Amino acid sequence: MGFNIAIDGPAGAGKSTIAKKIAQRLSFIYVDTGAMYRAMGLYMWRNKIDVEDEQAVSKACQNITVTIEYQDGEQQVLLNGDNVNDYIRNELVGELASKVSAYSVVREKLLELQRDMAKKGDVLMDGRDIGTCVLPNADLKIYLTADTSVRAQRRHLELMKKGIDTDIKEIEADIIARDLRDMKRKIAPLKKADDAIEINTSKLDIKEVIEIVIDLVEEKRAK
Ligand code: DC
Repeated sequence: MGFNIAIDGPAGAGKSTIAKKIAQRLSFIYVDTGAMYRAMGLYMWRNKIDVEDEQAVSKACQNITVTIEYQDGEQQVLLNGDNVNDYIRNELVGELASKVSAYSVVREKLLELQRDMAKKGDVLMDGRDIGTCVLPNADLKIYLTADTSVRAQRRHLELMKKGIDTDIKEIEADIIARDLRDMKRKIAPLKKADDAIEINTSKLDIKEVIEIVIDLVEEKRAK
């Protein structure tokens, strides 16, 4: 068995940026589970399926296969065989992913894939329920958070860099709505695992967070 690291936390806490860099430094396989839910959300949007309709979403799940591949160490998500990486990183798909992720059929479909991926060696997986549900026996669990205003600011900056001008208050409202939805759902809600270490990144830069996590990994591995 390899070493498993679980990183959970709310939207925009910097999980994927940080997780990707740590995985590179430690030569771990990085598994971004949010991307899998995003692929499901994208399918619903492309096929005009109402994400508020659980029955319709569950039925559509029968026609969906999500698989993961790696190209130069970068995770690629395939939706029914097509690489959809370029289409899942936007606010709309994020929201659709959050909505469909509340349904049991959707979660069950991805759970097995996620657990299989964790068996592939040293793996760092990020998401919402990794420490609590997908990998309850992970060797190290991190719960990464930041204040909502800081998360909104970071997201705003990120979008500005892409040339997209947005209203920061709107972004903050979206973040709060998404957190609430992810935390209040019945199945595998976003929650800090009892044995997870919480890191609030509001006053930390990326490098500092990476160093903290790498120290924690080394501490655990030395045991
Ligand atoms: O991390 P992200 O923004 O890519 O995730 C998109 C949505 O997918 C998130 O709002 C909730 C859902 N998700 C989940 O329910 N469980 C996970 N392990 C990862 C993501």
